[in-house]
Amino acid sequence: MKTNGYTGEIRPLVLLEGFTEVVMCPVRQSSHAPANSEQPARQDGLLSLIEKRRSLRKYRQRQPDQSEIDRIIRSATYAPSAHNAQPWRFYVIQDAKKKSELIKQMAAKFRQDMEKNRVKEKVITGRIRRSIRLFSQAPVIIIATIDMTGMDRYPDTTRQQAEMVMATQSLAAAIQNLLLAARAVGLGGCWYCAPLFCPETVKSVLSLPDYYIPQALVTLGYPAENPPVPPRLHLDEIRFIL
Ligand SMILES: Cc1cc2nc3c(=O)[nH]c(=O)nc-3n(C[C@H](O)[C@H](O)[C@H](O)COP(=O)(O)O)c2cc1C
Repeated sequence: MKTNGYTGEIRPLVLLEGFTEVVMCPVRQSSHAPANSEQPARQDGLLSLIEKRRSLRKYRQRQPDQSEIDRIIRSATYAPSAHNAQPWRFYVIQDAKKKSELIKQMAAKFRQDMEKNRVKEKVITGRIRRSIRLFSQAPVIIIATIDMTGMDRYPDTTRQQAEMVMATQSLAAAIQNLLLAARAVGLGGCWYCAPLFCPETVKSVLSLPDYYIPQALVTLGYPAENPPVPPRLHLDEIRFIL
């Protein structure tokens, strides 16, 4: 089995433990499962948590404890990953100076790109202001990157691209876990794609190894808003029974 040198503690996997307390929904046995069934108990609390998670863009200023952040990142690492390579790497930025430097440099690159596309100055100013505001008022910023060194290597583009997609999908699963775990401990977060458009800027400001690939910026903090559920496509539009 490929372990990629992972040295984390080996524990029985508990599916996002603690969820049932958070959403106050008792864990109960499925009515379809016999009492002595080998099937795991139904986790209705988890289903409720999944549906209640929202992208939060307004936070209270209180800093979450380091232990709280570590707890949710640990939950992120219980995501499935291709080859169990666990290609995710998370950079937690709470230091105000570092955060401000990152936001400033990312905004500069954003401006540069828009100027190159001849976007009107008024539009540029508005977009830059919004992104600075969104990122600045979050007490914690996490940059989620991929480390490809534990993935398989192929000489041909098709299979190499498949490895890249697998690593990206693995990280995405981990980010979703992280957002759910954040909600479970009373925090909120939002996933932003901005680093995809300025990977070199992010790598340079955070002094990341050259072979890391920044994929996402996640803001975290205690919620200062309770946004409504953005509409979902109907089941009939996305599920096809053959
Ligand atoms: C890959 C990805 C990129 C995203 N990028 C942004 C972004 O750049 N700005 C933003 O405000 N929200 C971003 N989001 C959050 C989505 O807008 C949000 O998930 C969607 O509107 C559904 O809302 P919900 O998360 O509350 O269910 C992103 C989400 C994902 C999964």
